[in-house]
Amino acid sequence: MNTALITGANKGIGYEIASQLGKLGYNIILTARSSERGIAAEKNLAKENIKCEFVEMDVSDLKSIQKAYEIVSGKYQSIEVLVNNAGIMTEKSNILKSDNDLVFKIFHTNSLGPLLVAKTFSPLLKKGARIINVSSGLGSICNGMQNYSPLYSISKTALNAITCQLSYAFEPLGVIVNAMCPGWVRTDMGGSGASRSVEKGAETAVWLATEAPIELTGKNFRDKKEIHW
Ligand SMILES: NC(=O)c1ccc[n+]([C@@H]2O[C@H](COP(=O)([O-])OP(=O)(O)OC[C@H]3O[C@@H](n4cnc5c(N)ncnc54)[C@H](OP(=O)(O)O)[C@@H]3O)[C@@H](O)[C@H]2O)c1
Repeated sequence: MNTALITGANKGIGYEIASQLGKLGYNIILTARSSERGIAAEKNLAKENIKCEFVEMDVSDLKSIQKAYEIVSGKYQSIEVLVNNAGIMTEKSNILKSDNDLVFKIFHTNSLGPLLVAKTFSPLLKKGARIINVSSGLGSICNGMQNYSPLYSISKTALNAITCQLSYAFEPLGVIVNAMCPGWVRTDMGGSGASRSVEKGAETAVWLATEAPIELTGKNFRDKKEIHW
């Protein structure tokens, strides 16, 4: 049975990716910080006959990532899919006046987290494995950058660059690495007024995890189509 590890999967888009992959027969390792919400999510997926276990992991904390790796590598020989989905948003604010702790927190969560998770879990990622980094159009830089949430945007631009570099690093190992934008999705982060359902928001990540041609690596997608960085 193939195994998928999804970060930030106790709610929102991450939970929906876990649910969709679980229904396709993947064994799910669901990770996040809140174990209360994580165990509740694990129970909900189990009700849908999805094989799933919650492992606590704070992606902004290297020790927490290493602890999760010890737990997972003690039970599994390989992970076929890694979805770096965990992320936080910041409010629109003048970047010069932003709280310095928040500057570190958002980079540790949205940018360095995915890099360190991929690096730490790399021994479990064998030929044919797929890494999906959940990015955002707000991080895109090629057609001019929006000013909605500056720190968040920069953190996702960094995640896009990390995706490219990870794709080069994993290429000799036969592991593909892509980024995707879910669009504006109705979650705690996106708010109730967002234009997309979680099902739609998860769709491209699930496609990249399963059906996307293996030649596609080091690219950025929305709605299963390549988009600019
Ligand atoms: N919603 C949108 O419109 C939208 C648009 C573009 C991109 N995205 C991206 O999509 C991803 C998911 O967003 P969402 O809308 O589903 O957000 P959400 O509903 O706020 O869920 C965020 C998830 O990330 C987890 N998380 C936050 N910080 C974490 C950390 N340090 N370590 C581990 N897990 C952490 C949360 O669980 P805990 O708090 O328990 O850890 C939760 O499971 C994010 O990367 C976001 O940037 C969202």
